[in-house]
Amino acid sequence: MTKILAFAGSSSPTSINHQLILNITGRISDHTIEVLNLHEFEFPMYSIVKEKEGFPQNVKFLYEKIVEAPALIIAVNEYNSNVSGFFKNIIDWLSRVEKKFLDGKKILLMSTSPGQRGGASALEYCKNQFPRFGGNVVESFSLPLFYENYDSEKEVIVNEVFDLGIIDVVTSFSQQINE
Ligand SMILES: Cc1cc2nc3c(=O)[nH]c(=O)nc-3n(C[C@H](O)[C@H](O)[C@H](O)COP(=O)(O)O)c2cc1C
Repeated sequence: MTKILAFAGSSSPTSINHQLILNITGRISDHTIEVLNLHEFEFPMYSIVKEKEGFPQNVKFLYEKIVEAPALIIAVNEYNSNVSGFFKNIIDWLSRVEKKFLDGKKILLMSTSPGQRGGASALEYCKNQFPRFGGNVVESFSLPLFYENYDSEKEVIVNEVFDLGIIDVVTSFSQQINE
């Protein structure tokens, strides 16, 4: 049994990526999972002056949570073909605490958006960048057209093809993180 930390890189109280995190983590029973809702955390905008004043409490808290978990499930939202400023700011802070803040982590990376590409550009950005922080993205998927493919009331993926694909990804991830 491996400890998994899961969160969405969104500051929205109605984040569709957080909804996806809840759906996916609900499918995993053979590992211990902690879900964080980053909407509940304040992260000041990074600046060298702020860094010299000391790392913010929430940055240290998130960093420690990441250190404790060998596996991560991260869902990224997409703003203007990249991750949101909110999540980029978190990456910047964490990289200042420790350049290799994802060292040795096995990561399931996801994204969703209301659009056709499901946040694929934000996902690609993270896939390319996470290795420089020591992370190993072992599985990934994007869920396009969130409002057509997901029923927020029932909390289920209604598109059978995507649902089956996600079952495969989650099963493979669960196996790969077995210690
Ligand atoms: C400033 C802004 C830019 C956006 N740019 C994109 C984009 O490039 N691609 C995309 O698929 N969705 C884009 N969206 C729509 C977001 O994917 C949508 O707001 C989604 O709900 C964000 O995910 P979240 O709810 O998990 O925060 C944008 C939204 C905003 C507010």
